[in-house]
Amino acid sequence: MIKKCQVFTPPETVKKLLEVVGYEKDLYGKKIIENACGDGNILTVIVERYITDCLDKEFSLNDIKAGLEHDIFGAELEEIHYRNCINNLNKIAENYGLYGVNWSILNVDILKEDFDFKFDYVVGNPPYITYKDLNEETRCFVRENYEVCRKGKFDYCYAFIEASLKLLNERGKMSYLIPSSIFKNVFAQNLREYLLPFLNKVYDYQTIKLFDVLTSSAIIVCDKGNTVEQIEYINLDKRVSYKINKIELTYKWEFVNKKKSILGKAARFGDYFNASITIATLLNEAFVLKNFKDIRSFEEGGQRYIQTNKFIIEDNLLKNAVSPRSLSYNKEELIIFPYFYNEGSLVRYTEEDFKKKFPFGASYLNSFFDKLQKRASDKSVKWFEYGRTQALAHLNQEKLLVSTVVTKQVKTYKISEEDIPYSGIYITKKADLSLDFAKKVLESIEFLEYANSIGINASGSSLRITAKDINNYLFNIEEV
Ligand SMILES: C[S@@+](CC[C@H](N)C(=O)[O-])C[C@H]1O[C@@H](n2cnc3c(N)ncnc32)[C@H](O)[C@@H]1O
Repeated sequence: MIKKCQVFTPPETVKKLLEVVGYEKDLYGKKIIENACGDGNILTVIVERYITDCLDKEFSLNDIKAGLEHDIFGAELEEIHYRNCINNLNKIAENYGLYGVNWSILNVDILKEDFDFKFDYVVGNPPYITYKDLNEETRCFVRENYEVCRKGKFDYCYAFIEASLKLLNERGKMSYLIPSSIFKNVFAQNLREYLLPFLNKVYDYQTIKLFDVLTSSAIIVCDKGNTVEQIEYINLDKRVSYKINKIELTYKWEFVNKKKSILGKAARFGDYFNASITIATLLNEAFVLKNFKDIRSFEEGGQRYIQTNKFIIEDNLLKNAVSPRSLSYNKEELIIFPYFYNEGSLVRYTEEDFKKKFPFGASYLNSFFDKLQKRASDKSVKWFEYGRTQALAHLNQEKLLVSTVVTKQVKTYKISEEDIPYSGIYITKKADLSLDFAKKVLESIEFLEYANSIGINASGSSLRITAKDINNYLFNIEEV
């Protein structure tokens, strides 16, 4: 479980963590903890600062040694890193003639530790471990003991943020390097509510890579003795900073400069259009026919069929399948559509009718029977139907298709009433604005900026957005 989270903090970021929390001078008597300290990348700098500050103030070596033992704390779960950390701290101390320091570095699980005193500073870079990589015992322990982890698929680091805030005294300050997904992830909603009262600043690295992994990072700064109504947001990537009212940080935290962009923005995308997630067959290999090389069609008894060298399917069981990928590569695809519309409403076949009307299609799908049965489908879904039925209701109209992943540009595709989108987000009209208008809104620079501020990092410089993000977008009708 632990191997995945041993990415230690680079020196420049260590400096930033200490600078933003103000751990710079007058350090004697101030208790600090690095509560997942690894080999001591942060603690060694803390110790060096502490010693030089004390030497500047002409403390004796004996006092400094006692100070190091009483003021500087660390915790590390893994013995090997705990030992490395002690060795690294000894090397620093010995450079200043300080030998035999009895360090307050603990080889413990900090989430299970109680202290009978509180700290002036917590500084750190906790382990990030996704829910799926946590073992059952840890999940249970964390869920029972940390309120920010009560619901859903939390990351291990959420518990460290709660634990750190609890370690601070009433004037205590904290700087913590965290994955910026905590600002947007649905399962971090409780964490955001817990954190917000104490939060003062966010230093957002955005696309600046601190580690060789896909995580994008930010430093949060909390100050228990100075609660504020506005946070300062510092975008280290774009080198801009501005204040944001805490009351505007609800649901996902969207760090936009409202002063610059909200003026005159009255229209909500979702009031004029409906952005929804597309259908999910939960077994595209059965429903979507991608390889056209070997397909030919023929007619018999008034019915058209398509035939490959492996199967035959009734032509009227098929519709055009589209995805942002197939459209961008101009690839033709077909999808089995085991439903029909009657006066605009979707109708589902009984199994008997389906087999009678489409004997070839039914026997083709039957060859995937085991896999179809094993899908985590919605309740009442029959074996020959799509796994998720939610998106089907509004499909039979003109629509736009947009990818959930945004890289540099938002691309939308106009698709017909008959086309069945099977990945991405599709947009239909709700009020009197046209789909061309929606296309203009979604392909605007302003929407791209919004997507950059609200999207969750997918990979490299790509961001993932949701249908809800699109519906919540505010824009100025006159400026489109
Ligand atoms: C991301 S690394 C960061 C190390 C160090 N803070 C740094 O910035 O260089 C996280 C560290 O937390 C340790 N760790 C994981 N779970 C822990 C726990 N429950 N208590 C204490 N340390 C833990 C890991 O062994 C790892 O060394």
